[in-house]
Amino acid sequence: MANLFEVSNITLRFGGVVSLSNVSLYQKRGEILAVIGPNGAGKTSLFNSLTGVYQPQEGSITFNPKEGEPISIIGKKPHVISHTGVARTFQASRMFNALTTFENVKIGAESHKGIGAIGAILRGPATRKDEKYSDARTWDLLDFVGLRAKANYIASSLSYGERRRLEIARGLATNPEVLLLDEPAAGTNPSEKLELTDLIRKVRDQMGVSILLIEHDMKLVMSLAERLYVLNFGSVIAEGTPDEIRANQNVVDAYLGTTTAEGAN
Ligand SMILES: Nc1ncnc2c1ncn2[C@@H]1O[C@H](COP(=O)(O)OP(=O)(O)OP(=O)(O)O)[C@@H](O)[C@H]1O
Ligand SMILES: [Mg+2]
Repeated sequence: MANLFEVSNITLRFGGVVSLSNVSLYQKRGEILAVIGPNGAGKTSLFNSLTGVYQPQEGSITFNPKEGEPISIIGKKPHVISHTGVARTFQASRMFNALTTFENVKIGAESHKGIGAIGAILRGPATRKDEKYSDARTWDLLDFVGLRAKANYIASSLSYGERRRLEIARGLATNPEVLLLDEPAAGTNPSEKLELTDLIRKVRDQMGVSILLIEHDMKLVMSLAERLYVLNFGSVIAEGTPDEIRANQNVVDAYLGTTTAEGAN
């Protein structure tokens, strides 16, 4: 079966800055794949290219959904790509801080169905049946990420680990085939990191959602990822299993040699 993502020779420039240089990679369906590398290596730029936020000047990105034709990503708007089954979380936490945990997930579910955040808030009679579905789905997702008990808490009152789990629930609310996680454990403590590791694995194992992961914490990323790509100065310098990456001298020189057992940063 065709790969989920097929990225061929993409180059992304901002004026004189080359963020991605001739990058080629693929993700298999169902895979937990990671992208690692030093600060400024181009990891977030890659995610932005996969989700339509950035448009690489060269190369191609193909997304192969379970059903339907392959989709050419470059040139498509982010909301169009989101509807094809690609969801993401952001490196810097993004949520509606003044709304509750429940409302944050529900808006994710409803905006995806085309009711939009406004419709979700105005609640016309036409959307009432949809709303019942969204409520049930929202409760299921809160159970899944372990936040049911915090459903009515204001999002800004949640701990870092809880916020990170809420963001994953929001991503899942759009029923994606793949979830892109940009440093999902940033700012969390060791026990929260373990919870996130278990949750991310559960998303793939129980929901069948493929995972593409950017993470600086080496313990977390090496325990989760089945395969990794290493970016350095916008180029792929290595690809392989966790064992192959740990043993790769180029990777040690460019990145791993500078990280501690707890990971970089
Ligand atoms: N919108 C933009 N305009 C100009 N330059 C950009 C833009 N986005 C990214 N860059 C540049 O592209 C390069 C790669 O940045 P990117 O954010 O992708 O790195 P990263 O690997 O995610 O780093 P970090 O680990 O710090 O998050 C950097 O030099 C950055 O300044
Ligand atoms: Mg980044």
